[in-house]
Amino acid sequence: MTVQSRTSVSRRTFVLASAAVLAGPAFSAFPARASAAREYRLAAAPGRVPLVGGDHPETAVWAYNGAVPGPEIRARQGERLRVVVENGLKEETTVHWHGIRVPNAMDGVPHLTQKPIAPGASFTYEFDLPDAGTYWYHPHQRSFEQVGRGLYGPLIVEEREPIAVDREFFWVLDDWRLLPDAQISGDFGNMMDMSHNGRIGNMATVNGCVRDSFEVRSGERIRLRLINAANARTFALDFAGHAPRVIALDGQPVEPHAPAGGRIVLGAAMRADVVIDMTGKPGERFSVKDTFYRGLEYRLLDLVYAAEPLRDRPPDDPIALAPNTMPEPDVGAAERHEVVFGGGMMGNMATAMMDGHRTGMRDMMQHGMAWAINGVVATGHTLEPFLTLRRGSSHVLALHNDTAWHHPIHLHGHSFRVISRNGEPTRYREWQDTVLLNPRDRAEIAFVADNPGDWMFHCHILEHQAAGMMAVIRVT
Ligand code: C2O
Ligand code: CU
Repeated sequence: MTVQSRTSVSRRTFVLASAAVLAGPAFSAFPARASAAREYRLAAAPGRVPLVGGDHPETAVWAYNGAVPGPEIRARQGERLRVVVENGLKEETTVHWHGIRVPNAMDGVPHLTQKPIAPGASFTYEFDLPDAGTYWYHPHQRSFEQVGRGLYGPLIVEEREPIAVDREFFWVLDDWRLLPDAQISGDFGNMMDMSHNGRIGNMATVNGCVRDSFEVRSGERIRLRLINAANARTFALDFAGHAPRVIALDGQPVEPHAPAGGRIVLGAAMRADVVIDMTGKPGERFSVKDTFYRGLEYRLLDLVYAAEPLRDRPPDDPIALAPNTMPEPDVGAAERHEVVFGGGMMGNMATAMMDGHRTGMRDMMQHGMAWAINGVVATGHTLEPFLTLRRGSSHVLALHNDTAWHHPIHLHGHSFRVISRNGEPTRYREWQDTVLLNPRDRAEIAFVADNPGDWMFHCHILEHQAAGMMAVIRVT
């Protein structure tokens, strides 16, 4: 997947250097005086980062505080967060706190929940953190380009009583479409990407750089927080030689389990917290592969065992996380709503409603649109709600992917239980904020509509979102 290989010496030097930058105080984290809020500053602006490393030139990106990913925002469950966002871009922006159940006005959706932040202006987001977990932040304005150029970062909310591990860290995964000079290909929003699989890149990065290896120690227990920040790519990570156990999905605790087929599958925007026991021997090397797209499998990096073991064998402390604060939906009494996702190439959809008119697929494509939810194409964020839910009531959304493509479907302001897939009850009834639908899949999700406001409900393949696969659910 790399643009070109380079010597492992230069790459190793680079990996170490960037790890130091990530660990350093690249941002301000201090409790504000006036209140108990934890305060951060995010400045969105063009920058240059050593994405590929080695002899390759730096890559021109758009970044928060000059780094990709942006600074790690970290707080404790129950704390309040205040983030001042400064817009140093030449276009409007916003920040969305993906997966956090924020008040509607803090959700960062342009025109729907706030006025976009103008170039040179700033906006202060402030909200409580009701739930622990692995989240991330990113713009919601022209996100197919703003996220695609590097605007995103991890947001970690620590449990009040974390589980015992030797080491905890995150891997923010991304996928870039780079030209041979290591610069980002400028073909954002082209109709090919919009109407097919989205912008799939040609180079994968972990925490903002191509990595050759990651050092671990024999007998170590790690907690790895995986975040898929790619525009479109689904990752399926295979930790061959190890037995990862998933303890949280999209930030929400789940009964610890081995992932199906041994692979951790993450659609765009999805997260998984994984406990991995380092059962290899000192000096051993294991490849971590991304095997999602058949025929396009590649090695992401190697786990390399240090010469010195940490201990004989990993500990066996409990790894289950305490539950978060989501209200339990009453599935028996829930209102049921059918939601059909249509459109795209090789689909069944011939026409859809666009700006109030029945429009044929070809006309839609001429307007840069290709997808619909329940037959309606979204041409912007200011949409009439397609569902209005009474606050406090339980709902089941029966989702049907009537297309030939994958769609990671995301709901703002809530987490939902995935209660069935293709007619079969799910084993773990996992809480998610984004559910990956395979082509032709059906899934049922259930939640209590307890957060008032207008909430986006959209595909997180950012090209699909921009090309119409977006809707609003109102909770009153
Ligand atoms: Cu991650 Cu509507 O967003
Ligand atoms: Cu999609």
